[in-house]
Amino acid sequence: MKKIAIISDIHGNLEALETVLFDIEKQDVQDVYCLGDIVGYGPYPKKCLDIIRKKATIIVTGNHELGVLRHVSFSDFRSVARAGIEFSRRQLSKSDLIFLQSLQVVKIVKNLDLTLIHGSFTGIGSPNGLQVWGRIRDMEDAMYELEHSPTRLCFVGHIHVPFVIDDSGKWYEGLTEDVVLKKDKKYLINVGSVGQPRDKNPMACYGILSIGEGKTIFKIQRVFYNIQKTVDAIYGVELPEYLGNRLLKGE
Ligand SMILES: [Fe+2]
Repeated sequence: MKKIAIISDIHGNLEALETVLFDIEKQDVQDVYCLGDIVGYGPYPKKCLDIIRKKATIIVTGNHELGVLRHVSFSDFRSVARAGIEFSRRQLSKSDLIFLQSLQVVKIVKNLDLTLIHGSFTGIGSPNGLQVWGRIRDMEDAMYELEHSPTRLCFVGHIHVPFVIDDSGKWYEGLTEDVVLKKDKKYLINVGSVGQPRDKNPMACYGILSIGEGKTIFKIQRVFYNIQKTVDAIYGVELPEYLGNRLLKGE
């Protein structure tokens, strides 16, 4: 049995990341894949990046990494996002920026027939055409993405809301149980956000993919962490208080 943890959108939330990694350690996982947005919004972008560099076997870039690198226009970000990006950039070293620059936008793991991308593989839902900004807004977007994604499984992040959708148009509700992924179907899976969930559930979120014994299973994990600790850290630095308040509500 091969088990992979897939995490995304950590956004400098060290407390959430450490709690999630502790949870992952208990799951007998062999690999950790990261779908980007390690930095931005939160108070500890540098520490989160250092940890992800050690723990993750594959990392793809997110739009906040591109923002920190100034590879994209600031006008593509809302003001609170800009504040987080500027804060992150001040915390990161030159070698951190060189590392971020080395990250790929898409990674295809051929032997597991899966794609890793921050936004959407096709770029659908993207306000500026970039794949990292892709956004699955509805079933129509999901079906387009599934039709064009190059592998049976496609993992995305970016919207901070977990979902599983298959190519027959089934949207799996709740995600509190294992989802058995059938061999003859394609799946588009959002693993949610470790550091800034927006589905009204403030618990940290990530996914576990288990492959073996003729079965592929995906599960969303929700983990309690000390949210107040991160909120207090945000209040203590030059970040908008709103970025702390939203964590308490999961929005
Ligand atoms: Fe994000």
